[in-house]
Amino acid sequence: MEGPDGSGKTTQIELLKKYLEDKGYDIVITREPGGTAISEAIRAIILNKDYQEMSHMTELLLYASARSQLVNQVIKPALAEGKAVICDRFVESSAVYQGIGRGLGVSTVYEVNNYALGEVKPKLTIFMDLDAEEGIKRKENQTELDRMEMEDLSFHKRVVEGYRQLAQLYPERIFQVDATLPIEQIHSMIVEEVEKRFFS
Ligand code: TMP
Repeated sequence: MEGPDGSGKTTQIELLKKYLEDKGYDIVITREPGGTAISEAIRAIILNKDYQEMSHMTELLLYASARSQLVNQVIKPALAEGKAVICDRFVESSAVYQGIGRGLGVSTVYEVNNYALGEVKPKLTIFMDLDAEEGIKRKENQTELDRMEMEDLSFHKRVVEGYRQLAQLYPERIFQVDATLPIEQIHSMIVEEVEKRFFS
């Protein structure tokens, strides 16, 4: 599940989890960066707003390190046990935030992340599409912003544009949903897509 901050990823993940559980699946949910003790420790470094001097490449490598640990410690074992895994952010977040937002290039991001992912690839990416301004507005009541949220509007606009470009380039693996629609309607659209891709 991908999209800018404030796009409603968590709500949709919970609804999808319930839907798949009702179908009899065991579901594991992950969030990035995080999801293991090591990955959470890396998250604390990445998002610490005191570390303004962090280079873009360090940031990319830290996200990839956190992901590598999550893949090996949580995702691979879950898949091996026949569980379904729903990820709150995965490699496409790095593609757009570091590759496009930071300007490191999407191909560099995929190259680095190949080491983190190995053979683990998402079967479907759902992109919750929301204008950067709206995402920021939805987060306005939050008292403390982390290092990424402190970035200016132009950064967040590049991120959203990046997601839109990727969704256009790879429609076969990225499903784009209008995140301004009512929650239940978005859920129905996601269910329809999941049914089409996995159960028909
Ligand atoms: P969260 O707020 O969804 O927990 O994510 C933390 C922040 O990290 C969010 O602003 C998006 C950003 N991020 C990246 O820049 N690259 C990544 O690879 C991931 C997973 C998140």
